[in-house]
Amino acid sequence: MKTLYVIGIGTGNPEHITMQGIAALNRADVVFIPTKGEDKAALAAVRREVCARYISRDVRMVEYAIGSRDDSVVDYGQRVRDWHDEIAGRYEEMFSQAPEDGNGALLVWGDPGLYDSTLRILEAVRRGGMDFEVRVIPGITAIQALTAAFAIPLNTIGNPVTITTGRQLAAGWPEGADTVVVMLDGKRTYEALDPDLHIYWAAYVGMEMEILIEGKLGAVREEISVAREAARARHGWVMDIYLLRKMG
Ligand SMILES: C[S@@+](CC[C@H](N)C(=O)[O-])C[C@H]1O[C@@H](n2cnc3c(N)ncnc32)[C@H](O)[C@@H]1O
Repeated sequence: MKTLYVIGIGTGNPEHITMQGIAALNRADVVFIPTKGEDKAALAAVRREVCARYISRDVRMVEYAIGSRDDSVVDYGQRVRDWHDEIAGRYEEMFSQAPEDGNGALLVWGDPGLYDSTLRILEAVRRGGMDFEVRVIPGITAIQALTAAFAIPLNTIGNPVTITTGRQLAAGWPEGADTVVVMLDGKRTYEALDPDLHIYWAAYVGMEMEILIEGKLGAVREEISVAREAARARHGWVMDIYLLRKMG
């Protein structure tokens, strides 16, 4: 049976990948690298760099284009489901090229378990009748890279942490939360929040062009928005994450 390694590679620093990830990469007969779009091009470059640095045997690299979500589909859930179906079709096509009893590797940004649909899509491909084993190698998440960059703990003593998206946070502050980590926020949701919150904001965290800004939200939010837009103009894409904390 074919085995597919789903390897978390961290958030853009080639040194984020674990020894376990490197060992799995070196067991692969074929490595699948997603491309397309300006941000995807930069992310594909990181994946190629990881392969160039750490693979020490002959491996076939297969680059594949992922389409974008179709914004003309009004229902968000449906839009995502359609998009996943399309990717599932691509995966099926690609994996059928991997040798029988061979190993494939998919390199996933950060950790495959956090705001990433690869594992859900692979489950759908297997339900569709394709037989292969999935082995997951964990990676450094953007959350770990963020808290490490600021040298802060994720949680306050004994308290839970809410991890959410900009879309969800726009609907209201999570009940009872003192620490909220926000990912996938293309709309600068922090701009409209309580100015007394403390924000730890990072763009391209772990990468060479990393930007870090921290402070009382009311005092730094404009600085963040200016830095964010300037960075997007400069690089053609931006990925950011932030942690909000109620102080005192
Ligand atoms: C689709 S999720 C993927 C998360 C990833 N699986 C992880 O473990 O971090 C993409 C979101 O992760 C965050 N992210 C990923 N890499 C980042 C980076 N280098 N700098 C800042 N945020 C990042 C951003 O919030 C981005 O919108």
